[in-house]
Amino acid sequence: MKHDRILITGASSGLGRSLALTLARPGRTLHLGGRNESRLMEVAQHCISRGAGVEISRGDVSDRTHMENWIGTSGPLDLVLACAGITGGTRRPDSPDDAPYEPDAQVRRFFQTNCDGVLNTVLPALSIMRQQPRAADGMRGRICAISSVAGLVSYPGTPAYGATKAAVDRFMVATGGNMKQAGILLSSVVCGFLNTPMTARNHFPMPGMTDVENASRRILRGLRRNERRIVFPLWLAAGSRFMDLLPIALAERYYTHQPTGAAGTMPEPDLS
Ligand SMILES: NC(=O)c1ccc[n+]([C@@H]2O[C@H](COP(=O)([O-])OP(=O)(O)OC[C@H]3O[C@@H](n4cnc5c(N)ncnc54)[C@H](OP(=O)(O)O)[C@@H]3O)[C@@H](O)[C@H]2O)c1
Repeated sequence: MKHDRILITGASSGLGRSLALTLARPGRTLHLGGRNESRLMEVAQHCISRGAGVEISRGDVSDRTHMENWIGTSGPLDLVLACAGITGGTRRPDSPDDAPYEPDAQVRRFFQTNCDGVLNTVLPALSIMRQQPRAADGMRGRICAISSVAGLVSYPGTPAYGATKAAVDRFMVATGGNMKQAGILLSSVVCGFLNTPMTARNHFPMPGMTDVENASRRILRGLRRNERRIVFPLWLAAGSRFMDLLPIALAERYYTHQPTGAAGTMPEPDLS
């Protein structure tokens, strides 16, 4: 697999950071995106010390103009990894007669970042790749977006997050069915919990937690194999698929007794 020219969103932290460090080596150019300049610079310096060329771009993935300018001026791209994302759960009811809820601003920000942000990455990348010549393996490029096992279930603890991840997975896999004819792999990562800053402040058990370095290697192996959907841990995804087949009332009876993501147990997302 040719991947000398790579663009990564969400490169300043967690999975995006780990993928950048894993991919950094002489002969490669990494275009790294994020909002936090000091963390982005720290990742860039690590990648440069491993021999990679690095360009950084500070900006918000939900800013379409910024993303089109950045990706449109990054030159030919072999691999694009859309990692930027935010999560959060529900708040405890405000009164005994009320219900757990997500603030409107949170719901909207999740869709702007996790859905619009992915579209703002994938669509300009597709435009570029469709113009590129095919490499020796017949491929023009690979684009991978990070979904989640949360997108497989209608989990009341993370309604908006789960919905955004379901949308990302459907979009990537369905559009990928067309784009394979053009020699472009569109891949969705359906992963469970990873030990990144995103989960570090969760106050509940996180079954199947995967080390982020292992997750990066698993994702890159899947991309080398042209996997359209990269899934891990398999047992968690299989269990989630099963839960989604149950009648809603039955599934909810189980979900509402789970400590995972119960109202008020996830940190408030930073919506600034
Ligand atoms: N951790 C898990 O358990 C888990 C499980 C399944 C899927 N995922 C998904 O994996 C991806 C990476 O998550 P992570 O665990 O690595 O989280 P993380 O450590 O919190 O990193 C999130 C990254 O997204 C960037 N980001 C967030 N909002 C952004 C915005 N509006 N514009 C530009 N960049 C933005 C952040 O950049 P700045 O901080 O610089 O703004 C940061 O680099 C996410 O899509 C997440 O939903 C995570």
